[in-house]
Amino acid sequence: GLPADVDAVEHLITELVVTPDERAEHAARRAMDAGLPPIEVAPNHGKLLHLLVAMSGARRVLEIGTLAGYSTIWMASALPPGGKLVTIDNEPRHARIAAENIAEAGLSDAVDLRIGDATTILEELARSAPTADSFDFVFIDADKENIPEYLRLALSLCGDGAVVVLDNAVWHGAIVDAADHAAQGIRAGLELLGSEPRFDATVIQTVGTKGWDGFAIARVRSARRQGEP
Ligand code: DHB
Ligand code: MG
Repeated sequence: GLPADVDAVEHLITELVVTPDERAEHAARRAMDAGLPPIEVAPNHGKLLHLLVAMSGARRVLEIGTLAGYSTIWMASALPPGGKLVTIDNEPRHARIAAENIAEAGLSDAVDLRIGDATTILEELARSAPTADSFDFVFIDADKENIPEYLRLALSLCGDGAVVVLDNAVWHGAIVDAADHAAQGIRAGLELLGSEPRFDATVIQTVGTKGWDGFAIARVRSARRQGEP
């Protein structure tokens, strides 16, 4: 069973360990004031993204689903000097607030915010990129129906050793049997992560203020090394 109060545990670990990024917290408050849905990642998971970017040594990050830029700020602040983050959202209203948040965080130079359909933008990027190593870190946190498509596009834009993280991998457990399109999209994404030889992946279940959910975390293998452990 679960401890009595998972929210209290999250608040305690956030206070004791995470050291929330004030710029990210400010971004989340502005998003809430503007009436955006409060569905950004929790602070401890923003910090996890920050650490994964830093630990992987990523220099080029792709984010699908900006919302108000909360996770954007956590990830961009982990980039080395000269590092870049491309983030995509199809809602101009989200993007307007995100642009303010990113500017106030002092991250405008590192962040390239694109407004539009992610599939279209990424297909364009894949066509114009000379090699399949445009990004070395991808965070997918947009509509759930297109997750398999986003994972395939991520593969076409990532080279050997790239890291791919997918939010909402558990979706309150609905991946087990739910019939709705969101759960089916996530489930199909998990099937792809498990069956595509270029992905080496796991899922961690998470619980806290955002409910019972999870992160899928994958490493991309080069086509060349398919089949190797
Ligand atoms: C929803 C989307 C998310 O990315 C999330 O983390 C939580 C909820 C949603 O669409 O409801
Ligand atoms: Mg999410």
